[in-house]
This record gives sequence, structure tokens and C-alpha cells, in this order.
Amino acid sequence: MRLIAFSGALMLGLLSAQSINAASIYAGQARAAAVCSQCHGIKTPSADAPFPPLAGRDFAYLKSALEQYRDKTRKSEIMNAIAGSLSDNDISNVAAYYAGLKP
Ligand code: HEC
Repeated sequence: MRLIAFSGALMLGLLSAQSINAASIYAGQARAAAVCSQCHGIKTPSADAPFPPLAGRDFAYLKSALEQYRDKTRKSEIMNAIAGSLSDNDISNVAAYYAGLKP
């Protein structure tokens, strides 16, 4: 009986950890589709577009690039304006979403 309760708790723990992950990628996907994809595309922008592709890029790279755009240590009129309205959570979510895509 005690064993069953224990494994039940373990299962619950695993399940909620998974849904937190899914939620952040899902939120990142929603934002990417609404905002970022207009320039970056979901997977690849058109070949002659001036926008760097994001799919499959390193999570840490995407996250730090967005943080640098937000605090304007990396300059781009467009990206400074866009990243300025992102919270830490938003940044993690979109970075997780794009990093998880196959380019
Ligand atoms: C209006 C067009 C536009 C939109 C919308 C846009 N971007 Fe960008 N993005 C750019 C341009 C242009 C650059 C290149 C800027 C530069 O020279 O640093 C860029 C660069 C980036 C880079 C750096 C890539 C690299 O190779 O270093 C990241 C990361 C990025 N954008 C993420 C995002 C995310 C996430 C969103 C949505 C929240 C977004 N962008 C929305 C135009 C856009």
C-alpha cells in the first residue's frame, strides 16, 4: 500500500515536470507564430531575407542574444524594439521553442 502511494507521488511529480516543459515550448510557439515568424519564419526565412534563421540554434545562444537585444548591449533597431517587450519567461519560452525545431 505504501509502495503504491509512493509510486503514485513519483508519477505525479514526473507528469507535472513534463507539463511545465510542454507549456513553455507551447507558449514559445504561440509567440513565435504571432511575432517572430513574420521575419524569421518558423523554420527558415526565405533565402534572400535579411533575417537570420533560428530553428535548431543553441538554446543558450538564442537566450543570450535576446537578453543582449533587450538590454541593448547588442544593437539592432528592430530586435531592440521587439526584445524590449519580452519577459525572462518569454525569452526562455521562444528560445526553447526555436532550439527544439529541426532546421
Ligand atoms: C520585424 C522583423 C523581425 C521580427 C518580428 C523579429 N526579428 Fe529577430 N531579427 C531581425 C533582424 C533584422 C535580425 C538581425 C539583427 C542583427 O543584425 O543583429 C534579427 C536577429 C535575431 C536574433 C539573432 C540571431 C543571430 O544569428 O545572432 C535572434 C535570436 C532573434 N532575432 C530572435 C527573434 C525572436 C525570438 C523574435 C520574436 C519574439 C524575433 N526575433 C522577431 C528581425 C526580426
